[in-house]
Amino acid sequence: MKIQFDEKNLLAGVAGEAHGVTRSEYEQSRPKALEALASFREKSDKGLYGFPHLPFRKETIDAISQYADSVPFDYDTVCVVGIGGSALGAWALDCGIRGPHPVQGAFTPERPRLVILDNIDPSFTSAALASMDAHRTIVLAIAKSGATAETVATFLIVRDWLEQALGDEAANRIVAVTTEGKYEEGPHKGEYKSALCELAGDRGYKTFGVPENVGGRFSVLSAVGLLPAALIGIDIGELTRGAAEMTHRSWQPDLEENVALRAALWHWLVWTRRNKSIQVAFPYSNQLWGTAFWFRQLWAESLGKARNRAGATVNVGQTPVAALGTTDQHSQVQLYIEGPNDKVFTFWKVEEFGSPDTIPARTFGLEAVDYLVGQTLTKLIDAEQRATAAALSMNGRPHCTVTLGRVDEEHLGAFLQMMEFQTAFMGELLGIDAFNQPGVELGKLFTYGLMGRPGFERYKEQIEDLEKKWAAAG
Ligand code: PA5
Repeated sequence: MKIQFDEKNLLAGVAGEAHGVTRSEYEQSRPKALEALASFREKSDKGLYGFPHLPFRKETIDAISQYADSVPFDYDTVCVVGIGGSALGAWALDCGIRGPHPVQGAFTPERPRLVILDNIDPSFTSAALASMDAHRTIVLAIAKSGATAETVATFLIVRDWLEQALGDEAANRIVAVTTEGKYEEGPHKGEYKSALCELAGDRGYKTFGVPENVGGRFSVLSAVGLLPAALIGIDIGELTRGAAEMTHRSWQPDLEENVALRAALWHWLVWTRRNKSIQVAFPYSNQLWGTAFWFRQLWAESLGKARNRAGATVNVGQTPVAALGTTDQHSQVQLYIEGPNDKVFTFWKVEEFGSPDTIPARTFGLEAVDYLVGQTLTKLIDAEQRATAAALSMNGRPHCTVTLGRVDEEHLGAFLQMMEFQTAFMGELLGIDAFNQPGVELGKLFTYGLMGRPGFERYKEQIEDLEKKWAAAG
């Protein structure tokens, strides 16, 4: 398995002193990286954060595979109802292994299709339902909290659609992935931790649990991502094997071996010392396009924080942008090369595409056409990436590259795990908690209030008072 991180174009010798990082800054910061590794390791070993353990949960992986193998009916569609961390991992896996397919809204032509109902745009939901056959669909309701308004609302619509077609039989085609169990103490003692779990219990749906120490955006290798993946034919054994190998690498104190830690350190330096407040994740591969959207959530929600672990206000964050090579060379790259020098670029390159790509060897007597004949798209996409990289460097724009040998289950599992470790290490380097999301939770509370959920009335009042105040100020 080949996953490499190449930092040389972040160096001051390439990007210039003002925008590039010096080798000595890197060398001096190595101890800080090792401290970040040790402190994250300690938290992980204590069980505070569970994503490093997911590739080793053999029982869960086997249970998911067995369920996927044993589904007793034909299906041509797997419909995921979930949002954020409960949807993006499945999309990254589908796009990576079976893709490429365009941005959400259009579904892969591969069978069974994966239809992801994350947004609640009514026209999107009804178009998706119209495209599915209830007799040939499995519905996966995925929500760690079991209460996210978008997911619950969409699930109720989809469940109704399924029950109208199948009656009681619908229950056999619904699986819930959520926090299992009941509170054993405190004010909610005896109540289910997840309303979705309670609903599943009432109707006898099959359920898979989400470990409590695994947050949404770190959950792709739990049932959240593995169940949809297994049902659409992705080899989750290989996926988790690649992730396990990356986990071993990510615990090494050797920065040459530990690509996640090395990448985190270089990114931390260029972000905090050269003020690159935007990171462009730039895959030159349609198959990694879903992963770029998954990464955008991981980086933004984990590292965009008001306070550090000591409680001081820091308002830290680096805005992640997803760009696709070569497509965005003809859309974004003008800005990247000549606009504000506030970005760092991370190219994601693939060595082997595995598809026939030779341009037919027939000449036309046209100089602007004939030079291409007999060459390959692989060579062209590589040349385009090198050309963009050179143009960035010539203009003092720092960039780095992650190279994957191929996009298959093993490499993709490893790459996703690398990105999660890199994010966790970055959280430690910044001194923040990369695993909470108070900003997201606040939005959820306001929504519950506005939609009339009992117990959340004060959020409705608060938002209405603020809206009045802002209207008066305008
Ligand atoms: O990463 C996170 O924690 C969030 O983005 C959640 O995944 C998202 O809000 C959905 O939450 P839930 O799975 O509880 O529906």
